Amino acid sequence: MPTSHVLPAEGKLGILVVGNGAVATTFITGVLMARKGLAKPIGSMTQYDKIRVGRGADKRYLPYADIVPLARLDDIVFGCWDVYGANAYEAAIYAEVLQPKDIEPVRAELEAIRPMAAAFDRDYARRLTGDNVKRGVGGQLPTRWEMVEALRDDIRRFKSEQGCSRLVVLWAASTEIYVPVDASVHHHLSDLEQAMRSDDRSRIAPSMCYAYAALSEGAPFIMGAPNTTVDIPAMWELAEQTHTPIAGKDFKTGQTLVKSGFAPIIGTRCLGLNGWFSTNILGNRDGLVLDEPANFRTKEVSKLSTLETILKPEAQPELYGNGRPAAQQANVDDAYASHYAHKVRINYYPPRGDNKEGWDNIDIFGWMGYEMQVKINFLCRDSILAAPLCLDLCLLSDLAARAGRYGTQRFLSFFLKSPMHDYTRGEEPVNHLYQQYTMLKNAIREMGGYEADEEMD
Ligand SMILES: NC(=O)c1ccc[n+]([C@@H]2O[C@H](COP(=O)([O-])OP(=O)(O)OC[C@H]3O[C@@H](n4cnc5c(N)ncnc54)[C@H](O)[C@@H]3O)[C@@H](O)[C@H]2O)c1
Repeated sequence: MPTSHVLPAEGKLGILVVGNGAVATTFITGVLMARKGLAKPIGSMTQYDKIRVGRGADKRYLPYADIVPLARLDDIVFGCWDVYGANAYEAAIYAEVLQPKDIEPVRAELEAIRPMAAAFDRDYARRLTGDNVKRGVGGQLPTRWEMVEALRDDIRRFKSEQGCSRLVVLWAASTEIYVPVDASVHHHLSDLEQAMRSDDRSRIAPSMCYAYAALSEGAPFIMGAPNTTVDIPAMWELAEQTHTPIAGKDFKTGQTLVKSGFAPIIGTRCLGLNGWFSTNILGNRDGLVLDEPANFRTKEVSKLSTLETILKPEAQPELYGNGRPAAQQANVDDAYASHYAHKVRINYYPPRGDNKEGWDNIDIFGWMGYEMQVKINFLCRDSILAAPLCLDLCLLSDLAARAGRYGTQRFLSFFLKSPMHDYTRGEEPVNHLYQQYTMLKNAIREMGGYEADEEMD
């Protein structure tokens, strides 16, 4: 029998969610309903997937919990922070993702989840107007360092009041405006701390204060939005120092899930790509925040990165160059000079609420350059797709911590649109869905004391 060296999942696991919006309340409500046997956690790998262990005649397919010690749904305790003071029941009703029949049975438990005051700066999400926010001296915006200290207090208090043995902090709050990586502040932990102490508001996003506080308290931190927060060397240093796992960024839910699953079809069959145009309409608060160009920019960077590492122009210039005939290529001086066209648009359209509709138009070409098109129309539900990822990311980050893993957890790339990787050393992210799945399975196998392999299942 293989031996797993992972510490057992004893005691309660506290999940502190930053944000109490559509994704957070759908996730929390689903877990509370599932453990009462009133709903099924469909889409969750940790609850449904089975991994092959062993080979040949010895092979068996086991659920994750039979390979590694995972926290049980019954042992989870939830807390959250939000800019708006509504409790999780009110927020779930407001989000209009779930029908009342799927919320009412756990109403009392949801009402007990009242958001702690947010570490928030309106310059990072202009469209939000809530006042459940932390205040500094004289009711002013606290400094970034004061935010960190207040958040650390929140985390410690929650842990002791709820009697948790372990915590995980998950960012499911709004996308902040784009903060470009600045080596003078974001590359070294000492510089980051200095910038927090000197209240450098333009380069320290509030989300960095949450991440810093979580890691300092030994809680794994997961970034579900595209924010650069933990995707900077200074945070990797902190994660290493505190032996804490980190994961990010941006839940891979609708359009990008389709993209990272479909692009390998084109690449594996050596078909060519002239362009990929993706557009969406959505009408929830996330859509409202993303209607602000500075916030959309953060999302755009994340969404665009997916294709480039799957269909590489430099590896196959004839297939993934710009698609123009050679004669036209000379003197071309635009963004697509050596590349297929790739555009992503998000449009805020209130009537649809959380039910996002995405259209993808894919211009491909085949034998002798003949052109074809693929159209994908995905009528999805954003938070319904995001909720199982929240559960898996939390349970697997907690597992990673008990396995003694720390820093960026690349095996969690499967769940993320813009997986973290060490870009300072030229490392590339893995965006190919099936390669990501292999990484996930192998990490589970290894943590369970089995051999990693790449055999076909
Ligand atoms: N649903 C998906 O498919 C999906 C996919 C990828 C990423 N995401 C990301 O997940 C996040 C949540 O999405 P959502 O639909 O739940 O949005 P939402 O607007 O319903 O909820 C976000 C909540 O975060 C709160 N918030 C904002 N800044 C905060 C701060 N500094 N501290 C505490 N709370 C803060 C807001 O008040 C809001 O209630 C967004 O960033 C979104 O881009 C969602």
